[in-house]
Amino acid sequence: MTITAPAFGVQRAPRTVVFGAGQRALLGRHAAEYGSSALVCTDQRLAASPEFAQLLTDLEDNGLEVHVWSDTSPELPTSDIDACFDAMEYAGIDVVIGIGGGSCMDLAKAVALMLTHGGPIDQYYGENAVPSPVLPIIAVPTTGGTGSEVTPVCVLSDSRRELKAGISSPYLIPSVAICDPELTYSCPPSLTASAGADAVSHLVESFTAIQRPPSALAEGRVFIGKNVISDSYARWGLGLLATALPIAFEHPDDQEARSAVMLAANAGGYALGVAGTAAAHALQYPLGALTHTPHGVGVGVLLPYVMRYNAPARVEEFAEIARLFGVPKAGNTQQQALAGIEAVDALLDRIGIPPTLKELGLAEDQLEYVAELGLRSARLIDNNPRPLDVDALLEITRAAYAGDRTDPF
Ligand SMILES: NC(=O)c1ccc[n+]([C@@H]2O[C@H](COP(=O)([O-])OP(=O)(O)OC[C@H]3O[C@@H](n4cnc5c(N)ncnc54)[C@H](O)[C@@H]3O)[C@@H](O)[C@H]2O)c1
Repeated sequence: MTITAPAFGVQRAPRTVVFGAGQRALLGRHAAEYGSSALVCTDQRLAASPEFAQLLTDLEDNGLEVHVWSDTSPELPTSDIDACFDAMEYAGIDVVIGIGGGSCMDLAKAVALMLTHGGPIDQYYGENAVPSPVLPIIAVPTTGGTGSEVTPVCVLSDSRRELKAGISSPYLIPSVAICDPELTYSCPPSLTASAGADAVSHLVESFTAIQRPPSALAEGRVFIGKNVISDSYARWGLGLLATALPIAFEHPDDQEARSAVMLAANAGGYALGVAGTAAAHALQYPLGALTHTPHGVGVGVLLPYVMRYNAPARVEEFAEIARLFGVPKAGNTQQQALAGIEAVDALLDRIGIPPTLKELGLAEDQLEYVAELGLRSARLIDNNPRPLDVDALLEITRAAYAGDRTDPF
């Protein structure tokens, strides 16, 4: 091994992460450590399930008074946040539990924030606008994808804005994450694919993000760029997903694959929560608003084209992705890097992510608008390994519209 520079890394994480089939049975015991009154944020699908009834009984058996909010919508509209906050403002909540996909976990983060510091929610948009700790949050994911159970991010849809908005603060990292792959067994293939593509994009974008000097921490950034710790999570997660995601998609009952996908999503959360994501996420914010496609599908469509744009700045990383995907080593480093990019393309194709923006329903005359709005996500744009301006974003969106996957070198 050649050491070229002193290592620099940062890890931010929940106090406790429990992973494994059946581990949701620990929810009540953990929640009881944080008080006697719990708000559970979930959605109507989960609220009607026998698993949810068991979780409620367990919470009550551990002495908690439980308030259930079960009206979370996908992609988390701000109206859901406001309605939940209005209903719970004076309920004396001690701990907020998000059980569900990214939308339910992010609702728990947003409501924990507002119950502590008040509304309106938009005063916290951006990085480090949360003034101090918020109520304890416990996250229990039911998709293998977002990694929100360990991230400092809450993503929401504000109908007054043309983009999705993000609140990024280490105070939003849940205190406890309980990751039970059994809760993902009910995900249909389309959800396995969209959430899985989200995890792929978190891992690739954080592994290939900009690299900053250690002083980035002193600048007070939440997202400091790739580093030795985020890289180790990215390697781990990509290696797991390369094998497990197609199996979980094609054989939803394969328990080992479900477990590996959830573990990889968790690794993606650690990686992105410190390193940050980049161009694919910046462009997805307007794309999602225009096409109403699930977040993971949008980033999955964009990723092949963002990887090609970034390839000249991240040759070594893409060559390493080829090795992580088990591609036999052949040719020079650039050829290996192309093989890495094509291996990620093949994974996304195999789980049915559409190959072009055209197939997502975007019109060609909307490409400039997507590029212009994408540029407004400054934290994501700054995090890209190659500089981005509106022309560069237009180049990526044009390629993504036409399906132009030519050799980037
Ligand atoms: N906070 C973060 O760090 C972070 C990271 C990435 C994405 N996100 C956000 O997360 C959201 C997407 O989350 P998601 O992909 O998990 O989907 P989701 O939470 O939006 O849920 C999508 C649908 O899947 C259903 N669902 C959830 N779990 C299921 C299960 N086990 N079986 C059957 N159906 C199930 C839900 O009921 C819902 O109808 C987006 O708003 C995205 O922007 C947040």
